[in-house]
Amino acid sequence: KANVFIVMGVSGSGKSTVGQLLADTLEIPFFDGDDFHPERNLKKMSDGLPLDDSDRADWLQELHQLAQAALVQKGAVIACSALKANYRDQLSQSIEDAVDFIFLEGDEELIRKRMEARKNHFMSPALLKSQFDTLEPPEKALNISIELSPQEMVSAIVDALHQKSSIGLIGLGVMGKSLCRNLARHGFQISMFNRHLQDVEEHIAVDFKAAHPELNKAKAFDHLGNFVRSLERPRKIMLMIKAGKPLDQTLDRLVPLLDEGDIIIDGGNSHFKDTHARQKKLASQGIEYIGAGISGGEEGALKGPSIMPGGDIEAYQQVAPFLETIAAKDLNGNACCSYIGPEGSGHFVKTIHNGIEYAEMQLLVEVYFLLRASGKNPDEIAAVLASWQTEGLDSFLLEITIEILRKKEGEAWLIDKILDKAGNKGTGNWSTVAASQLGIPATMIASALFARYISSFKEKRMQLASIFEEEAPVFECNTQDLREGYAIARIVNHCQGFELLAAASHEYNWSLHLAEIARIWTNGCIIRSGLMEMLIPPLKHTESLLLHPEIIEHLKIGRSSLKKVVLSSVAANIASPCFQEALNYLNAMGTSTSAASLIQAQRDYFGAHTYQRHDQVGTFHTKWKNTNHD
Ligand code: 6PG
Repeated sequence: KANVFIVMGVSGSGKSTVGQLLADTLEIPFFDGDDFHPERNLKKMSDGLPLDDSDRADWLQELHQLAQAALVQKGAVIACSALKANYRDQLSQSIEDAVDFIFLEGDEELIRKRMEARKNHFMSPALLKSQFDTLEPPEKALNISIELSPQEMVSAIVDALHQKSSIGLIGLGVMGKSLCRNLARHGFQISMFNRHLQDVEEHIAVDFKAAHPELNKAKAFDHLGNFVRSLERPRKIMLMIKAGKPLDQTLDRLVPLLDEGDIIIDGGNSHFKDTHARQKKLASQGIEYIGAGISGGEEGALKGPSIMPGGDIEAYQQVAPFLETIAAKDLNGNACCSYIGPEGSGHFVKTIHNGIEYAEMQLLVEVYFLLRASGKNPDEIAAVLASWQTEGLDSFLLEITIEILRKKEGEAWLIDKILDKAGNKGTGNWSTVAASQLGIPATMIASALFARYISSFKEKRMQLASIFEEEAPVFECNTQDLREGYAIARIVNHCQGFELLAAASHEYNWSLHLAEIARIWTNGCIIRSGLMEMLIPPLKHTESLLLHPEIIEHLKIGRSSLKKVVLSSVAANIASPCFQEALNYLNAMGTSTSAASLIQAQRDYFGAHTYQRHDQVGTFHTKWKNTNHD
């Protein structure tokens, strides 16, 4: 297909040399825009006067016609300063798709020196300032640095023109880097971009590429326009940017450079409502937006994460080959990546994944702490946990906990040196808020979140401990009960998590496939476990795991152990919020007659909210006091 390449830039940037060389390389004609200036323009410039818009109007028109004519032949390279956006619009009017601008970019001082060395040219170096004043740097052009030699510049141009990448990634933090390597290892031609921040983030993409042999074919950019231009259309761009403001700032810069049909994948932990809002906004500009939850941390991202993409299904299908190839594989070899549903459902599912993760982590923390209070040291605890790992309680989080407990610094266990204040990035909070808004008692997620919050009040805890703490608490409970109690508490956590997903699915009409979500959580992600495998078949039949016969069997067997764990922890004055919530939940859900009749009565008493009865149908109100308020 014939193309016109307009090599642009201020006078003295080397347009003619590079343009001629490029035309020779591409074997198409070259035209120097300077040769088309009318006599009066040349005279004006020789007199040291800058051209204005009206001087340039006819000249631009002529070059436009030249470009049009070239397109019905083999195409052409045209050197033309094209300093302003509207000049470029005039040049490419009605032939936009066939015109590529190549911007020779350089420092004013360097160009001045080059101009001063140039003999017999009508353009005097004195006019350079006016050229820079007029220049509106192009956003969509291919930017080429004039610090390269002409031959290197042409090679860079040819490379950029001919080899387009099939996918691009923005944001080379820990996760972004691992995903790039994963994509490259699977043979995808990728482009990578990281912003340039003077003295803070410099040459990130180029240095990253140089450090990893598998990236030798990848293209590295710190120029956003060049990155975008390096991608095949419709472009597929993955954003691995911190959720919230930084993401919006990136979108503000990126979106004007995109074209209709391009697809953005937000792979961060964004709030599902933000994702939906971004989707709607971008859809009005013809840009597709996939909100994809990605779990697995640095290693998962490199070797295969679990991916939860949500948004328009047709847009997903276009990026599916990339995401499904780099995702972890389940036991049957299927990708742990599956279309979740419309809107922000992918990010919602990832959020609840993290909520479940919070409670799974907290349960392990409680197990550790209780065992510590029973007199075991970290190595001994690791040995207990390692036996659980082979007794059907295997999980990624258990595995890493064992390794953490065994880690030593010199003679001492590292865990003993780590401050007992846990941070969080917000997804546990979002899960808890969602549970609250959807009316689902995901009490273990909420307790795990609040346990983290409590941990952060270190000073207050120390003050109170000096008043309340008795001698070192001793936890007395056999490890078999602890193991059983832990197993049951985990089941309760998963029951609550999936109830939450089911409720959201109904509320937002997402038609979530819970069994499929469990399947893609069996590998790659942080909450992968044997239990998750076990939950797939029941979830094919029910949204309420708690009512499934197989789950009920487990709960019946383990409930008394859970009770013993809770009783022993209470007796030893040890907080065990997630164990306690698991038991509370089973007790409360497993009771036919709850105490809520009194709540009904209280509400009716002070607010005439009415109540229902066991013995009669309808709504009732009682005048509870004999005195008349009037
Ligand atoms: C994952 C993790 C990951 C991240 C969490 C941590 O699935 O890979 O969940 O997304 O580590 O956001 O969250 P907190 O900082 O809130 O613990």
